[in-house]
Parts: sequence; structure tokens; C-alpha cells
Amino acid sequence: MTSLLDRSQLFLRSILGYLRFPTQSGYARYRGIFRTPEQAIAAAPKNRKIGYNHEELAQEYHEQAAEGIGFYDYPMLFWMQKLLREGTVLFDFGGNIGTHFYTYEKYLTYPSGLQWIVCELPTIVAAGEDFAQQKKRSQLRFTDQFEKADGAAIFMASGSVQYVGSLATDLAKLQRKPAHILLNRFPLCEGNPFVTLQNGGLVFYPVYVFAKRDFVNSILALGYELVDQWKDPGEPCAVPFHPEFKSLMFHGLYFKAIDS
Ligand SMILES: C[S@@+](CC[C@H](N)C(=O)[O-])C[C@H]1O[C@@H](n2cnc3c(N)ncnc32)[C@H](O)[C@@H]1O
Repeated sequence: MTSLLDRSQLFLRSILGYLRFPTQSGYARYRGIFRTPEQAIAAAPKNRKIGYNHEELAQEYHEQAAEGIGFYDYPMLFWMQKLLREGTVLFDFGGNIGTHFYTYEKYLTYPSGLQWIVCELPTIVAAGEDFAQQKKRSQLRFTDQFEKADGAAIFMASGSVQYVGSLATDLAKLQRKPAHILLNRFPLCEGNPFVTLQNGGLVFYPVYVFAKRDFVNSILALGYELVDQWKDPGEPCAVPFHPEFKSLMFHGLYFKAIDS
């Protein structure tokens, strides 16, 4: 049972979190529990940009690509090291300007014939293509169409499935589903799913928080087994005034097609 002191502290933390949400120090933090992304967008601070399809963000990604990897990338590297083969087609959903392609190559030996396809929003696709051309990297290609994942051996998504909310439905439409699905850095909770609003610095965006069991089951139902899972406790996940969502945490999951 939580004491009065604990509850008071939690309440004060919620007030602080709520007040700093629209400011610079509210970066990456959440506010509000909503049923739909539209409701979350309606609650965003006025005159601020919404969503990811913005040129200014592409500029930020150049800096991130130069920064290198985070500790949360190691499980991805561990599995990719085992899975990459000659001629592998890898589909990187939300891989911005090719950040993972550039930062992971320090740790992985890319096999010959590797095709790394980044699926992004149109503005980021254009920035990524320019950058790849400057770097003369022909293994890296870009698309804004999820359907291009058809026939890829590895599907990866790092920090991105929470912005679409329809991964299982989108995967189900593919004729040739990926043999391996590597998901990293997205929020799962133990209770009911919800949508919240995130401060992304230059922009604000709605985020889907999935119920862990339902999310995992939605992928298993497509003919996969869950091979590995990990947590990223480093990501701030509290939603002010909603202590019931304290189970919310960033996760990584690796699924393998049963028939592969
Ligand atoms: C938080 S960033 C993660 C970037 C990177 N993968 C990482 O782990 O650092 C989310 C990315 O998802 C992309 N994204 C959001 N909605 C998308 C969509 N509908 N289709 C493709 N990419 C999308 C954004 O443009 C952005 O690059």
C-alpha cells in the first residue's frame, strides 16, 4: 500500500511533469490518455507542428547518425549478426535517413548483396536519398510504401511502430512475410492500450501504447514464434496523473516465422 507521503510525491511529480510538458525540458515526455490519435493531436499545444514529416527533423537525424548507437541497440546487433546472409533484404521501418544502416556497420560485417530498404515519410525519404548519394551507398534504398516489405527476410522497426499502431494488420497484407521481425524501443503496458501525446522537441506526436499480451498475440497469429524480448528502462515513460500506467516500459521483441 502506498503511504500518504508516496502519494503526495507522486502528485507533485505529476504537476511538475504536466507543467513542463510543452517546454524544452518536457522533451520525450507524455501527457494525457486518449482513445484516438486525433484526440491526442487536438490536445497538443497550439501553433506547434504535429507528426514526423518535417524537413527540420531530417536535419536532427544527421546529427543522430553521427552520434553512434545507444545501449538499447545491442540486442538488435546480437540478432542481426546471426541473421544477415549474402543477399539479405532488410526492411527498416522508420529508419529515418538510414541512421541504423550507418551506425550498425561499425559492429556488423555487412554481407555482399545486402539490400537495406528504409521505409519513411516522404520528406525523410528525400533527405535520406540525398545523404546516401553523397556517401555513395548503393546498398541503402528508400521508400514510403510499407508494401515494399514484401519478400524482405528481416523486418526491423526501432522506435517507430508506436507511431502507426497497425503493424500486424500491415504485415498480414504482405504476400511474402518476413522470416524475422526485430522490433525495438516501443512502449508496451500490462493494462489496456491507449494513445498519448509526446513532446518530440521540434514537433509533437500521438503515440500508441500497446497492451503487451495483445500486441504479442497479434504477431503470433500471423505464424510467428516469440524468440526473445528485452526491456529498455532508460526511456521516461510516466504519464502525469496516471499512476495506473506505471507498468508502461519500452520493449524490444524478436519474432521468427514458424515455417522459416
Ligand atoms: C523516434 S524516430 C525513431 C528513429 C530511429 N529508427 C531510431 O530508433 O532512433 C521514429 C521514426 O519513425 C518514422 N515514422 C513515423 N511514422 C511513419 C510512417 N507512417 N511510415 C514510416 N516511417 C514513419 C519517423 O519519421 C521517424 O524517423
